[in-house]
Amino acid sequence: MTDAGRAAGTTAPALKRLHVITWGCQMNVYDSGRMADVLAPLGYAPVSEPEGADMVILNTCHIRDKAAEKVFSELGRLRKMRDAQDNRMILAVAGCVAQAEGKEILARAPYVDIVLGPQTYHRLPEMVARAARAGGAVIETDFPAEDKFDHLPEAAAPQGVTAFLTIQEGCDKFCSFCVVPYTRGAEQSRSAATVIAEARRMVAQGTAEISLLGQNVNAWRGTAPDGSTWGLARLLRELAAIPGLKRLRYTTSHPRDMDDDLIAAHGDLPALMPFLHLPVQSGSDRILAAMNRKHTADDYRAIVRRLREARPDLALSSDFIVGHPGETEADFEATMQLIRDVTFPMAYSFKYSPRPGTPAAGAPMQVPDDVAHRRLLTLQALLREQQDRFNANCVGLTIPVLFTNPGRDPGQIGGRTPWLQAVHVTGPQSLIGTEQPVLIEAAMTNSLAGRLLDHPSQERRSA
Ligand code: SAH
Ligand code: SF4
Ligand code: F3S
Repeated sequence: MTDAGRAAGTTAPALKRLHVITWGCQMNVYDSGRMADVLAPLGYAPVSEPEGADMVILNTCHIRDKAAEKVFSELGRLRKMRDAQDNRMILAVAGCVAQAEGKEILARAPYVDIVLGPQTYHRLPEMVARAARAGGAVIETDFPAEDKFDHLPEAAAPQGVTAFLTIQEGCDKFCSFCVVPYTRGAEQSRSAATVIAEARRMVAQGTAEISLLGQNVNAWRGTAPDGSTWGLARLLRELAAIPGLKRLRYTTSHPRDMDDDLIAAHGDLPALMPFLHLPVQSGSDRILAAMNRKHTADDYRAIVRRLREARPDLALSSDFIVGHPGETEADFEATMQLIRDVTFPMAYSFKYSPRPGTPAAGAPMQVPDDVAHRRLLTLQALLREQQDRFNANCVGLTIPVLFTNPGRDPGQIGGRTPWLQAVHVTGPQSLIGTEQPVLIEAAMTNSLAGRLLDHPSQERRSA
């Protein structure tokens, strides 16, 4: 996944200015929002630049290499800025690098005030108070006994037309290559009642599309209002019934947790969008076994077949890793074949990156970097072709688009198709927040252009 960018709000006048820099997955983006919420009662309000800030939080990611280096170089820059400004800037490192390398951070950058792991964000106000008092560093990277979900405030501000809602965190899968089970801890699910209440509030504040978030979101098992245990399909059915909620998604899923009920939900719930991120990582059974994924390539093909039986217009996206230890040319070719068989209009692909402390890092038969690099380029060329073909096939179709934002050019608005493609049209801002039929007229590399069907007064866009 790509850097999530710099999360921040507007430059509203504030008692204390908080700047949050976010790397990594959607979970981190979500967490950055919750950290801002938890600090709001202390008088902190988000600002978009670190200059002059009273507190800067780096919300870090540890998934691939150089993550820690990026953190140290950003810390160096912030330290200089802090030395040059009048007010005291509290420097905090949060997220998965903090969890994995908290002690190293304090050893290498002793000027950092707070180091906190992802399970301790609800304790942030107390840590800030301690840091202000002590003048020394505060570190919290234990996995606390209490559930942070029970202690974090709900999203304070309206969340926008499309919004994320974390329902599950942590991972018990221990894939050979992955740090997440170590940085995020064991799988934990929020209760159905809290999720439903939060979703209702979001919809009442104008959110039309909710993406349920979790490291293994389809492993969600939540306590139901009647005390029984629900799976994700049951929760989705409940959420789909909220009036005004137009679109539902969930991410990221593991093939092992795609149960019958969840597959059926894709056929039963029109609000559940026909697009599913279901990472397969590799198409080789040998490598899937070495990765500890606990399913075969044909198991994956069978899940996709059943999903498409339930929802024929379903499109898949995936994550792929090339160059996992032991991967031969034949293994790589099996991945290419799986991609040809399934087709992925969108996908993320990575060169294997050894992570300290994970089983694969010490495994024999590490793949040379140049070989892995060549495989990555070959795989990405095929994925690109599939994405281009998928987008080109949309030209001439009328597709419902949920409008989310003003476009780049004046008079334009932008939105997403059910398959998450970006679309822009000429149209009034008043349509933001609504879903409209759009005739797709052109496919560009990363977006589509079209024309609003129900608004004949709009000039036809020359694409
Ligand atoms: N829970 C999700 C993925 C979380 S991490 C799942 O099970 O699929 C996001 C993606 O980063 C992974 O799907 C994987 O493709 C990639 N990734 C994780 N560890 C990696 C590593 N050590 N090297 C390269 N890519 C990695
Ligand atoms: Fe990492 Fe595997 Fe867990 Fe996904 S399922 S977070 S890849 S260990
Ligand atoms: Fe990165 Fe942690 Fe997410 S390692 S991908 S921020 S769970």
